[in-house]
Amino acid sequence: MTIEPMTLDMVPQVALLEQLCFSQPWSQKALEEELSNPLATWLVATDGGRLLGYAGMHRVLDEASVTNVAVDPAYRRKGVAKALLHELEDICRREGAAFLTLEVRASNQNAINLYRSLGFEEVGRRRHYYTHPTEDALLLTKFFVREETL
Ligand SMILES: CC(C)(COP(=O)(O)OP(=O)(O)OC[C@H]1O[C@@H](n2cnc3c(N)ncnc32)[C@H](O)[C@@H]1OP(=O)(O)O)[C@@H](O)C(=O)NCCC(=O)NCCS
Repeated sequence: MTIEPMTLDMVPQVALLEQLCFSQPWSQKALEEELSNPLATWLVATDGGRLLGYAGMHRVLDEASVTNVAVDPAYRRKGVAKALLHELEDICRREGAAFLTLEVRASNQNAINLYRSLGFEEVGRRRHYYTHPTEDALLLTKFFVREETL
């Protein structure tokens, strides 16, 4: 498995996996625009040119947030998401981010398990944050500064 920045040629595969995984997917056009967004980092995990999964992040000053993480159903539970998030965390640490935060559907236990296994803590809940279907978001955060000062 290789993890590298998303390039234009990978966007169609990412857009397809978005559609498969989410009720309100990012469009191909929106994903293409992310390639020229200086605040955005999108990583893809591939094997021989085939997309296994991807993860996106936005950074503003020392705050970073995960925009999306998804893995092809055929390649789940093999550590792909964990590897993608580790890479995003490494980028955060290198670039001095204080924390990495994200929202996750309150019922998405698989993703919540993933984030908890990586040391994310629940710091809040956004009521009715999601639509299709309406659902609360849990706000999970991993603090890098605090980790370094332990
Ligand atoms: C959530 C998702 C990204 C996990 O991807 P993955 O590559 O299968 O995850 P990993 O193999 O890296 O799993 C790492 C850890 O997460 C947890 N985990 C992941 N999938 C799980 C599942 N189906 N059941 C229970 N725990 C799970 C486990 O703790 C796992 O460690 P383990 O396998 O050693 O027990 C994937 O299921 C997915 O794409 N889901 C649909 C999209 C989505 O919900 N994205 C998150 C949006 S916030």
